[in-house]
Amino acid sequence: MMKAVEVLGTKANPEVTLNPAVPQPSPKNGEILIKVHAAGLTGDEITWWELWEHPIRIPGHDISGEVAELGPDYKGDLKVGDEVYSMIHGWRGLGQAEYAIVESDEVARKPKSLTHAQASALPIPLLTAWESIFERANLQKGQKLLVTGASGAVGAIVVQMASRLAGVEVVALASAQHHDSLKALGASQVVDYNTPNWEDTVSDVDVVIDTVGNPVLAKTWKTVKSNGHIITVGQPPAAWEYGKGRPEELDDFPNVKWLFFVVTPKTETLEKVARLIDEGTIKPIAVEVFPLDQVVQAHKHASIRNRKGKVVIEFVPEKN
Ligand SMILES: NC(=O)c1ccc[n+]([C@@H]2O[C@H](COP(=O)([O-])OP(=O)(O)OC[C@H]3O[C@@H](n4cnc5c(N)ncnc54)[C@H](OP(=O)(O)O)[C@@H]3O)[C@@H](O)[C@H]2O)c1
Repeated sequence: MMKAVEVLGTKANPEVTLNPAVPQPSPKNGEILIKVHAAGLTGDEITWWELWEHPIRIPGHDISGEVAELGPDYKGDLKVGDEVYSMIHGWRGLGQAEYAIVESDEVARKPKSLTHAQASALPIPLLTAWESIFERANLQKGQKLLVTGASGAVGAIVVQMASRLAGVEVVALASAQHHDSLKALGASQVVDYNTPNWEDTVSDVDVVIDTVGNPVLAKTWKTVKSNGHIITVGQPPAAWEYGKGRPEELDDFPNVKWLFFVVTPKTETLEKVARLIDEGTIKPIAVEVFPLDQVVQAHKHASIRNRKGKVVIEFVPEKN
């Protein structure tokens, strides 16, 4: 048996608890069992519908730890004891536990220069940033990008990857307290969302990467070129997301492309970015670490704004 975070109650009234005795999973087929050292929390993850499909509702997609056991058909090059980080696919989760199952295409060796707590904060943010910039927007050198929620976990990685890897001019939307740090991460222009009509101060944008959702998302239509591209991952999704309809803004901006997507885990991207972090090109995001006996406080803190970093639950305290 193992300890795991469990969400009881209802979707409208969820109750985070620590369950002291959940059956420990064992790896089947090509699966990998990870002894979880730390798990990163996304603020709104206990509202994601996938969690509510599980018989035991253990949240958690972002983990860092060590390989504990390999499934009988595993064919990759990981060995028991290797230190890895992983994004467990959206529909599975179950990461906030002492042991978690990952698939071989969801995991890579963790950045050597980071603690498990720092590494566990990164998989969803870095995979979302990479997929948005290189696979969805296909941003090209010299283009102009507007990033909303730029001081957040996803936003801060988007700013760095877009400016340092893609050679893009980055406009970062965030409250004023984050402007200096966003310039240091590579933003060429910083805009405060508290300024009335901020959208009138940004123009000729080729691509928007939105991590906030409405009402911020709705304002970005004014900032893009007539054939620009708006990509959003913000939650809750706008009414037109998940293919449910057509944005009404198209009446005024008929040639703007628009997309909502859900990030897909990818070993290759996790490996590439681990190298970029170890060589210093991409800086990790700040974390606020909570011990296992404070999972309730950790989830509460993850859901508030203006935190000092991404919330992480530590299952195995880091040795100094
Ligand atoms: N679809 C996907 O695959 C996918 C992948 C990753 C993340 N997401 C979603 O993307 C969102 C961001 O994730 P994250 O981990 O980056 O969260 P985060 O670290 O909490 O960052 C959220 C950012 O949004 C800003 N923000 C929040 N409300 C705002 C508002 N009303 N106006 C302006 N800025 C606002 C925050 O600024 P302040 O600090 O000033 O409040 C913060 O910078 C979450 O909803 C998450 O679920 C979706």
